Amino acid sequence: MRKKIVAGNWKMNKNAEDGQKLASEVVNMVKDEVTNDATIVICPPFLTIFPVEKLVKGTKVQLGAQNCYSKASGAYTGEVSAEMLKSVGVQFVILGHSERREYFAESNQLLTEKVNIVLANGQTPIFCCGETLDQRQKGIHLDFVKSQLTESLFHLPEAEFKKVVIAYEPIWAIGTGVTATSAQAQEMHEIIRNHIASKYGKNVAEEISILYGGSCKPDNAKELFSCKDVDGGLIGGASLKARDFVDIIKSF
Ligand code: PGA
Repeated sequence: MRKKIVAGNWKMNKNAEDGQKLASEVVNMVKDEVTNDATIVICPPFLTIFPVEKLVKGTKVQLGAQNCYSKASGAYTGEVSAEMLKSVGVQFVILGHSERREYFAESNQLLTEKVNIVLANGQTPIFCCGETLDQRQKGIHLDFVKSQLTESLFHLPEAEFKKVVIAYEPIWAIGTGVTATSAQAQEMHEIIRNHIASKYGKNVAEEISILYGGSCKPDNAKELFSCKDVDGGLIGGASLKARDFVDIIKSF
């Protein structure tokens, strides 16, 4: 059985105080209301991770980061390593979010290094892929997403690849209020799974959790999560409200 996962990507929102408040609300609501076995992850900004760790420790809520650097340590002013994140309880690291690719010029090649270092630290990469509206309209979206996976992940040996979580996030759906229809999400998730199967075989492909991200909200999560190949969500805006985030978790 594949893991069901809901991860909240807070992006550059919530200072230390507000972040602790949000994390506490999520922890309490999850404790009182969530009965399913979904893996629940929150990904606060770097600075907020440290105080939040004390609040989530020993609860069903796990900690993720939104990024890390590609090197282990050294003279890289302003960067944060996977190992540092691990030392404050971070188990998951989002990699290759489209905002990082666009504003910070992250390439498939750089992401290869980031994936490697996160796996080497025993953490789980949540690897993001997804096309622009222009690519979809030109009909090249399926091949584009496949190439993102091939170039950043397919160097991994099978045992390492099996630890990766994939998040399909169509760029045109992120923060826009336009969600992919469940048919569009299912189509791409199936393509991704088949692509994985072509490299690692069907059994491995069946084990990989593939999350959907892009304007996922309480009122559309149920339909998206009921798709055969959608194993949960990477949630941006709606993860900033505990009520909405927990309602999404309850949508399985
Ligand atoms: P959104 O963001 O839910 O606000 O669209 C999703 C994401 O970027 O991870």
